Amino acid sequence: MTQEEGKRLAAEAALRYIEEDTVLGMGTGSTVNHLIDAMADRRMRIEAAVSSSEATTRRLNEIGIDVIDLNSAGDLSVYIDGADEADRHLRLIKGGGGALTREKIIAAASRQFVCIVDSSKSVGVLGAFPLPVEVIPMARSYVARRLVALGGQPEWREGFVTDNGNAILDVHNLEIADPVSLENRINQIAGVVTVGLFASRPADILLVGGNDGVETLSRR
Ligand code: A5P
Repeated sequence: MTQEEGKRLAAEAALRYIEEDTVLGMGTGSTVNHLIDAMADRRMRIEAAVSSSEATTRRLNEIGIDVIDLNSAGDLSVYIDGADEADRHLRLIKGGGGALTREKIIAAASRQFVCIVDSSKSVGVLGAFPLPVEVIPMARSYVARRLVALGGQPEWREGFVTDNGNAILDVHNLEIADPVSLENRINQIAGVVTVGLFASRPADILLVGGNDGVETLSRR
């Protein structure tokens, strides 16, 4: 099975978590794009969506789904998004697409976070995927030095600007033995907007698409 097929399987399995006539939180990336396609195929009706990126907003609008501001939506019942890596405790690395800050905000404001990945993203220990960190542009070099002191090798995602007007550092070779503690430490660095570790607020449900179909892992 290709990675793309695994993503599509996981995305289709997420359809059953969508409550019609409610406001749905939507993430960013190719796995979420499969979900949007599946919603269009099934003519699924929802009241509206809160979106984590301009790219997702465009695709949702194309299939006739209104996108509203999180400030007018209040707390959401369900948020569905992909990830770059996921461990068995449903802790994640996100931000490969650069939308990590809005993703973290929507995850925080949602009662249930359903994460959809193909089996290549499922890992024992997080960290093989370079950890994205969104930074205020003037703090880029300072934050990079602090990340080196933490044992990582930050690389500026040159030419990339987030939807919030910021820069991204991708941190290679970090040992993520304790994801919650590392998330807290990186959050403390002045100039960091968001670190793409989702450990303090992990996913609630993880759907993993692979050769044997879809595996469902749950935190509660
Ligand atoms: C976007 O910033 C990321 O957090 C995505 O959720 C992640 O990169 C997954 O992308 P794919 O679904 O394209 O693999």
